[in-house]
Parts: sequence; structure tokens; C-alpha cells
Amino acid sequence: MSKAWSARFETSLNPFIQEFNASIQFDKTLIIEDIDCSIAHARMLGKQHVITKEESQKIIEGLKEIKIDYQKCIFEPAFPSEDIHYAIENLLISKIGDLGKKLHTGRSRNDQVATDIRLWLRKKINEIDDLLFSFQKSLLKIAQQNINVLIPGYTHLQRAQPLSLSHHILAYLEMFQRDRDRLKEVQTRVNISPLGAAALAGTKINIDRYMTAQELGFKTIYMNSIDAVSDRDFAIEFLSSSSLIMTHLSRLSEEIIFWVTDEFAFAQLTDTCATGSSLMPQKKNPDVPELIRGKTGRVFGHLQGLLTTVKGLPLAYNKDLQEDKEPIFDTAKTVSDCLKAMTILFDEGLKFNEFNLMQSVEKDFSNATDIADYLVNKGVAFREAYQIVGSIVMFCVSKKILFKELPLNEFRRFHQAFDEDIYENILPKNVVNSRNSVGGTSFKRVEEELLSWKNRLLN
Ligand code: ARG
Repeated sequence: MSKAWSARFETSLNPFIQEFNASIQFDKTLIIEDIDCSIAHARMLGKQHVITKEESQKIIEGLKEIKIDYQKCIFEPAFPSEDIHYAIENLLISKIGDLGKKLHTGRSRNDQVATDIRLWLRKKINEIDDLLFSFQKSLLKIAQQNINVLIPGYTHLQRAQPLSLSHHILAYLEMFQRDRDRLKEVQTRVNISPLGAAALAGTKINIDRYMTAQELGFKTIYMNSIDAVSDRDFAIEFLSSSSLIMTHLSRLSEEIIFWVTDEFAFAQLTDTCATGSSLMPQKKNPDVPELIRGKTGRVFGHLQGLLTTVKGLPLAYNKDLQEDKEPIFDTAKTVSDCLKAMTILFDEGLKFNEFNLMQSVEKDFSNATDIADYLVNKGVAFREAYQIVGSIVMFCVSKKILFKELPLNEFRRFHQAFDEDIYENILPKNVVNSRNSVGGTSFKRVEEELLSWKNRLLN
């Protein structure tokens, strides 16, 4: 197959280099976007009388036919085409003859590929947002069912203070909301048309950049042609936002993995979302959260990879930029798959063990702060109260008893202000319910939180 640029060269490419140079193996992903981009360009060339209206119409029909051929699997772009842009242009020429050679008037593959990638990413960002939204709804459902279920809260992975399980789940809902907000923001910078920047300097052909931008649904256009073909910030921002989504999924995965251990036993996996071991018959493994935690690494890798690819590049286009596609494609797929899997896990794969959760908060010292606060209420300075409770903890640990097992006269040996109502104050349910500050874990606050999420997500 002779190349579009073959006239300038005496001999053909070394076969290995030809394959090394090609991107069709992966940029065929952009086929629909490339056709749409070409249709908009052809229509604009017709309107601007760069080509005749009839010519424009014939080119558009040819391009539409290529789309149908692809959808019917009659056309499958593949090597030895160099990339998706040439593959479509060559097929168009073979379909409609020499007229097809007019399509590339006033544009370059540089602005073409920059446009295709934005169109593709714009669609994927919307899809990922939908998946985040569905996942938030699944989290909300679980949160609604578990307001009165308590879970130990940790700092440094040491028991800190008990929480409402809903409050814990709703913390993730907040994170995924920020992820959605971030993607929306990235979308504003993806949705800008570089088409018409041509190779790097613009073109002397009388094009209408606003028309192609509008045809393709872009909000606005790049105002500097050099920037338009060189910019990959938007892609890096997508990888960065995706990395944060994966970070949040990975933290949640980590919690699920230890919740389902025998040691914690806060939850168990149902058979539809757990896997067995090839050797140990008793095993039920949390492969889903482990895979999500594991796949986080590749998304971080893509972010680092593209940052590094772009960092040393002089303006404007350099072939290095061909390396932007695989990280973007793989990230979109990985994030989407992980969100789907995690949603299924929450919908049907994870059962919280209410009994164990409630028991677990009965058997620790995570109500210590409440004893200090009790003394504060009786007029003792917090620092002093803190020291007194520290001594009570030490005493109880040495006697191998919990606060609730310490008789009142013993409490009084540490401070006279203690009364019978101390026992009421340190019940886990009351401990949780008393944290009524805005954003706190009291049942009333959690109810408010749930209501506000319900209004945001379900109305
Ligand atoms: N396959 C190329 C890419 O993905 C298309 C642009 C090629 N431009 C060029 N001047 N060689 O980056």
C-alpha cells in the first residue's frame, strides 16, 4: 500500500519500522469519532465553497457508508494502514474516487487526532459519571438500611470512637461526589475544539472553525493553533481525576477486605461475588476488591506515563503524542469496570454482620472520650479530665475489665463528680448519638445527611 506521503520518499519503510510507527492497532478505537470529525469538516468545506456543495454531500455520504460498513463488520480497520485517519481516508477514496482526496483540505492529522481524542473522552467522561451516579445510589441504599448499626471507628487502625455504619458509608458518597465534580470540571477543558489549527499554524484555506466546533457539539474553540495541537493537559487531568476515583475505590476495597476476614467478621461476601481457592476448601476470597485495589496501580502508572511523555516536548506536535492513546483508553476501561464491579458488590455481594458489628463496639475503650466529656460537663477542665480517664483506662486494663464493669465507688476514687448516670453515658448507642455537632455521627445528623443525599440523588 503506498503511503499518502510516499512521493517524497525513494524507498519504502523497513517492515519492522512500518509496524513500529503505526498506531492503527489501538487508534481504531477512535473510528466513530474520526468519521464524525470528517463529516463536520466536509460539511464546513462545502458551506465555505472550498469544495462544491455536491462534492461535500458525496464525501459525507461516503463517510456515512464507511460508518455503516464498520458497524456491520464489513470494514475492520487494521495494519498495514498506518492509523485510523489514513485507513478511513483511503477507504473513502476507494469508494468515491479522486473526490475523496479533497477531504483533507485545510486540516492536518494533528488537529484531527486532537479532535477525535476529545470527542471520545467527552463521551467516556459522561459514561463514567453515570457509573459514579449509579454507585452513589447503591451506597445510599446501604446507608439508609444501617443508621442504627454501629461500627468501630478507627484512627491509626486503632479503635477510636464508635460510629453509625451509615455515617461511614456516607463518607464514601462524599468522595465520589467530589470525583464527579472534578470530572465535570475536566469536561469543560475537554470540550474545546482544536479542529482548524491544522498542522500547527492554522491554514490559508477559508475554513470556519466555529461551524465545525458547533457541528461536533464543542462549547468553544482553542484560540492558539500551536496550543491546540500540542495540548494534552486535558488528558492528563482525566488521568489524574481517574487516579483519585481509583484511590477512593481502593481505600474502600481495603476496608472490605479486612471487614470480611475472620478476625474482623464485620461482613461477609455472598457466593455471587466471592471466589474459592484451588487448594484450600474453606476459602472464600475477596477477589473483587483485591482486583480493584490492584488495578489502581495501572491507572496511577498511566498518569505518571503521560506526564513524563509530555514533559520534555518542544512545541508543537511530536510523534511522542501518539503515546497518549493507550493510557487514556485503558484508564477509561479500568475505571468503568471497577465502578461496575464495586456497584455489583454493594448491590448483591456484601452482607454486613449486624450482630458482630454491634458486639464489637461493646468490648473496647472507644467510649473513653465520653467519660472525659462527662467530667467536663461537671466543670472539670478537659486536660485534667483527660488525665483522670487515662488513669481509669490503665486501672481497667490491669484488672482486665471494661469501663461498664467498674463499680461506681471505684469511679469515685478517680473523681468525686462521677454518678450513676455515667453508665448511661458510656453505652455505645448513646456515645454515637451524643456526637451531634454538624457533620457528626449522631443518628439525627445521619438522618439529615441521608435526607440531603436522597434529595440530591433521587429527585
Ligand atoms: N497517529 C498519530 C497520533 O496518534 C496521528 C497524528 C500524526 N501526525 C503526524 N504529524 N505524524 O498522534
